[in-house]
Amino acid sequence: MSRPQLRGFDRERYARHVASVAAIWREAMQDAGFDAAVIPAGAAAYRFQDDIAPPFRPNPNFAQWAPLPQAEHSVLLYRPPDRPRLFFHQPADYWYLPPAVPEWAAAEFDVEVHAELDDLAAAVFGRLVDGERTVLVGEAGGADGNAPLDAVNPSDLVDALHYARARKDEFELDAMRRATDMGARGHLAARDAWFDGASELDIHLAFLRASRQHEAELPYPSIVAQNAHAGVLHYQLYDAAPPAERRSFLIDAGGRHLGYASDITRTYSASRDAFADLVDALDAAQRALVDEVRPGVTYVRLHERMHRAVARLLHEFGFVSCSPDTAFESGITDAFFPHGLGHLVGLQTHDVGGHLADARGTPAPPPERYPALRLTRTVEAGHVFTVEPGIYFIPLLLDRLRGEPAAADVVWPRVEEFLPCGGIRIEDNVAVTADGVENLTRDAFARLEQRT
Ligand code: GLY
Ligand code: MN
Ligand code: MN
Repeated sequence: MSRPQLRGFDRERYARHVASVAAIWREAMQDAGFDAAVIPAGAAAYRFQDDIAPPFRPNPNFAQWAPLPQAEHSVLLYRPPDRPRLFFHQPADYWYLPPAVPEWAAAEFDVEVHAELDDLAAAVFGRLVDGERTVLVGEAGGADGNAPLDAVNPSDLVDALHYARARKDEFELDAMRRATDMGARGHLAARDAWFDGASELDIHLAFLRASRQHEAELPYPSIVAQNAHAGVLHYQLYDAAPPAERRSFLIDAGGRHLGYASDITRTYSASRDAFADLVDALDAAQRALVDEVRPGVTYVRLHERMHRAVARLLHEFGFVSCSPDTAFESGITDAFFPHGLGHLVGLQTHDVGGHLADARGTPAPPPERYPALRLTRTVEAGHVFTVEPGIYFIPLLLDRLRGEPAAADVVWPRVEEFLPCGGIRIEDNVAVTADGVENLTRDAFARLEQRT
């Protein structure tokens, strides 16, 4: 295969990965009472009254088994203890390039190739056995047709699968290291383009070029924000002209390899000013918090620790006249750090299962004060998540804070000085080990910067 997504494909690691995915599914299916699972890759729906569809993304429950980014309409059938069976769709088409049949797949799956969707669906249904309980995990309406399905995405099965996905095996960690390397290469080029005075659009293009990705391959739309745009958490536009004055630059952009994402943010100041000091101080606080990550700590505690660190920075940099404890307790930090500390990363940038307390699906909702916190689990070895604190100067949230009693503790002229810089976010992806973390992001930057 010559697609760049399949570079560095270690067959043995992949074989162990498929065995481990199969074990997870087998146990989850047994507990939920299913004999067979139909897992369609899915298909991209056309835009309204159009014959063009957004880029295809496979159902992540399918992607967990097989890194086949072009497998639109393909279906996996898993009926333990049989080997999983891949019904691969290779249309006879001259409008689009049909996907190549993956020769490596035969080592792990029984593979059959179908050009016609009706034949493919009939072949899937032909394998289902009367009296067996069959579940569909994915988008209904395609390959399921009139199949005798007993359930579609039942929460007990799906919760167990999602819960398990938080723990990555060696194949997945390898893919995430490579996704991080791609992202870090893009970041360094983007940073250089920014220092050279490029526009947001040109920085975005520099990121794509250096990370060797086209836009549809990105794990999520890159956030390329200069000046006050950095205060829009998911800023989505790309100004084609450089700003008249350059103050700050926030880039949140990642790579994807074998379906796995990296999610990386860095923030820069144009000059050696107080904003640059705040960037450095938040960076140091982020690294100190990463040092606290180990199996057994709860992510909610880490999030709260970071709020307290943000309160200390607000005090140290003269944004509040009260003590750090008061800035935290009165909720002032919520206006400056309005998102969660982070989230699981994997086949999805915001990966599933962050609010599950166990494999049975017991909900672990975020605390009332932090509704945006996407991860509430106790940290375990093998988890991969982001640690991405921020300090922002967001007019909407600051205006709300002005109406609160705590507004009296805010040094408003100091806050207003920073409004044109938008904000700061520092985001790393960490893989939890037995006694700490592998910081995928810092390691990738260090490797690349050593080389230059
Ligand atoms: N890139 C979106 C996020 O950091 O969660
Ligand atoms: Mn991000
Ligand atoms: Mn993130």
